[in-house]
Amino acid sequence: MDKVVWHNTTIKKAEREKLLNQKPFVLWFTGYSASGKSTIANLVEKKMYKLNYKTYLLDGDNVRHGLNKDLGFDEESRIENIRRVGQVTKLFLDSGVIVITAFISPFVSDRSLVKSLFQKSEFLEVFIDTSLEVCEKRDPKGMYAQARLGKIKNFTGISSPYEPPVKPDIHVVNDSISLDEASNKIIEYLVEKNYIKKEENK
Ligand code: ADX
Repeated sequence: MDKVVWHNTTIKKAEREKLLNQKPFVLWFTGYSASGKSTIANLVEKKMYKLNYKTYLLDGDNVRHGLNKDLGFDEESRIENIRRVGQVTKLFLDSGVIVITAFISPFVSDRSLVKSLFQKSEFLEVFIDTSLEVCEKRDPKGMYAQARLGKIKNFTGISSPYEPPVKPDIHVVNDSISLDEASNKIIEYLVEKNYIKKEENK
């Protein structure tokens, strides 16, 4: 690495922000599988798109099809998964785009590491707090049932730990509210804290 020198680009983040007419930030979703992360993240993205914000959604299942297809679900692989996604998120942010990520990201230390890549105001941790009981009841892909039978190893909540955020920026308790309400809660937070405007961004 000693021989690799960082090259500063001529066009910088500030220029790109100006062109896109927005200040980028990260919405980092965390929560169990089947907690609603992906669905709520998609709804949030749709609402921001309608307000004319430029966004990109990085989703665990999708990223694991390409960039991270070499990774499994043992502790080491999950750490590497989140490390890479953190770096990709940083690149997207540098491009001026608002990034929404939906990964279980079960470990506090990995989320802290990702957070440390950004300025304090640029990173928002969103805890989709759905109880394991509810996630297991939903079980849309039948994975919890298979994990209980031992057919899927290292399954989060069953045979692999999940460490909830201690102080998330946005806390969505998703056991009983609708997905639309959950996404609105996030949009309202962003408006209230001046990350986005309520009316169309022109
Ligand atoms: S993370 O822990 O490394 O952040 P990530 O969000 O990328 O996980 O991937 C989670 C998705 O992979 C789940 O939504 C589920 O569909 C699938 N999956 C397959 N095996 C497992 C497993 N052992 N534990 C959790 N999710 C799994």
